[in-house]
Amino acid sequence: MKALVLAGGAGTRLRPITHTSAKQLVPVANKPVLFYGLEAIRDAGITDVGIIVGDTAREVEAAIGDGTELGIKATYIPQDAPKGLAHAVLIAKDFLGDEPFVMYLGDNFLLGGITKLVEEFAQSDAAAQILLTKVSNPQSFGIAVVDDKGDVVKLVEKPKDPPSDLALVGVYMFRTPIHEAVRSIKPSARGELEITDAIQWLVDNKHSVKPHLVTGYWKDTGKLEDMLECNRAVLETMEAKNEGTVDSESKLIGRVIVEKGAVITRSIIRGPAIIGKNTKVTDTYVGPFTSIYHECELSETEIEHSIVLENTIISSVARIEDSLIGKEVEVRGSNEQPKANRFMLGDHSRVIVNQGN
Ligand code: G1P
Repeated sequence: MKALVLAGGAGTRLRPITHTSAKQLVPVANKPVLFYGLEAIRDAGITDVGIIVGDTAREVEAAIGDGTELGIKATYIPQDAPKGLAHAVLIAKDFLGDEPFVMYLGDNFLLGGITKLVEEFAQSDAAAQILLTKVSNPQSFGIAVVDDKGDVVKLVEKPKDPPSDLALVGVYMFRTPIHEAVRSIKPSARGELEITDAIQWLVDNKHSVKPHLVTGYWKDTGKLEDMLECNRAVLETMEAKNEGTVDSESKLIGRVIVEKGAVITRSIIRGPAIIGKNTKVTDTYVGPFTSIYHECELSETEIEHSIVLENTIISSVARIEDSLIGKEVEVRGSNEQPKANRFMLGDHSRVIVNQGN
């Protein structure tokens, strides 16, 4: 069995972070979200992994390399534009050959891995196995209808009037009929070759499509709120560990992970939280559900329920919450006259400044 991992796409809902980086590389509990998927694939015994890359190919390739460190063999397949998930299958035909495969959307996060699902599929003779989960906003996803016999009978992509609340999770398993399906369908109203339409083609052409209901934690991390929620869910599963230096005036409370080379001075870290390699935290409060990535410097500040990417400096600013802060960003407080907020923000940045005194 092979795997096809999608790591292209524009990531418009995570701008400006995605102006310079792939959405799949935003870290969740200090590990790129894409790596969780690749590890789940490897743990299911699949090592031959095709990775679809777009405009952010360079960053994705730099992060994964040939895949050795993750225990996989990575083959990069460039997609010239985000033309849809079924288009990705179309251009990966040479890589996939006639083997069954798992397709994994690189921004999807599934707690608990895919090993059982892969085994279940290997033992079936279905043309496809899809993962479904109940959602409260079915308009935002591909939606499936399952009949009394447990067969998938209908699929619709982001329906205005959803026929069910069962959303397609971004992990799919396919056998060879999918190749004819992706060749047969036409682009949707949003101009993409939809995998949802390709699966509907399988159903219409009497191929068996089996559903698997996911009851565990799943998240499509395309938006800030989802990213923060996913970070929260992962941090809650981690064990406390201190591999850094924490002075006697600091306190680590609850589940706190301090990575190698990190230095905590006169600070309080209340878990679940993670402080990345070589990051310095001084005279600062880090609250629950916060991930500070590598090589950052935090001083005289408070931060909670946030993700901070590498090489970022935050100093002397009042409490920060619910934030995603990119790489090499500076957020500094100042008493200089005139008292004013001063910004240099990238395109599509979002800033909410406290209006208090
Ligand atoms: C894609 C699929 C959709 C699926 C979702 C899961 O949507 O088209 O059917 O429910 O992934 O994350 P997209 O993220 O491309 O909008």
